[in-house]
Amino acid sequence: MPSVNRIALVTDEASLPIDYDMPLLLDACQETGLKAETCSWEDPGVHWRGFDAVLLRSPWSYVERLPDFLAWCESVTALTRLFNPLRVSRWSLDKHYMADLSAHGVPVVPSGFVGPGADPFPAWRGFLAEHPGAGEFVVKPTVGAYSKDVRRFTRSSEPEAVRHVSRLLDKGRHVLLQPYVESVDRDGETDLVYFSGVYSHAIRKSAMLMPDGTVNVPTFESRRAREATEDERAVASAALDAAVSHLGLRRPLLYARVDLIRGADRSPVVLEVELCEPSLNLSFAEGSALRFARALADRLRS
Ligand SMILES: Nc1ncnc2c1ncn2[C@@H]1O[C@H](COP(=O)(O)OP(=O)(O)O)[C@@H](O)[C@H]1O
Ligand SMILES: [Mg+2]
Repeated sequence: MPSVNRIALVTDEASLPIDYDMPLLLDACQETGLKAETCSWEDPGVHWRGFDAVLLRSPWSYVERLPDFLAWCESVTALTRLFNPLRVSRWSLDKHYMADLSAHGVPVVPSGFVGPGADPFPAWRGFLAEHPGAGEFVVKPTVGAYSKDVRRFTRSSEPEAVRHVSRLLDKGRHVLLQPYVESVDRDGETDLVYFSGVYSHAIRKSAMLMPDGTVNVPTFESRRAREATEDERAVASAALDAAVSHLGLRRPLLYARVDLIRGADRSPVVLEVELCEPSLNLSFAEGSALRFARALADRLRS
């Protein structure tokens, strides 16, 4: 009789209740013959070596504790198989990866970087000068999630924008500057989910940055099912191929989410790639949880 694989689905106490994928994934694992259970990465009592695979799902408390989280990923890597692997998490949790994707020829939202120690004024003015056609801009930390500390500014609100950049730099954060991509106000963004490099499904997510400065968080209500178009799939696949090649991986990523937005010429560009612990929007696509569980089971067999 084949042995049953034990899987840890990694979360934390505060995040589990808002992980809408988890109940579906637990059921799908059971249906696939995988013995899955939820475990908190913050629980020192978990015996990680006892699992055939440890799958990062909703360990979202990492945002405040990134070095601890990466150290934990490293320790688990020494004990069992971590998905996605450590080097994927390290790379994808810092939006400096936008420069790597661009270097691989993937179309991305134009991105400028400012590091601690830099003078924010010339950085802001230089970026605006490089994008004379843009009326609004976005400032965000290179490490962040849930739109936290992401702000939208008009060209004329330089004092406020520079103050926000300074505040982030003073906290030791690196800062990403982008033109505000206006199509998002009308069309939202498209978030595509892949399992083992194969497209599964997509959703539409509404714009998060309101013109009055309000920043929304991506709630369940801000999402709905959307079929990704051919050109979106092509860009998302190119982004994943670039990630795999850049990181020197031998196989496609077990799971991935690529968030796209349409530029001024209407072609899709990468807003973000989520390769560590993405919400996968499983409840918006019939059968997607099972596709994920099967991809995992296949990976464990090979
Ligand atoms: N350059 C941009 N143009 C338009 N909207 C943006 C831009 N950057 C971010 N946003 C909005 O802010 C949200 C959060 O930004 P994102 O880059 O996805 O960071 P996070 O890691 O916080 O999700 C996006 O979902 C989108 O609505
Ligand atoms: Mg996002």
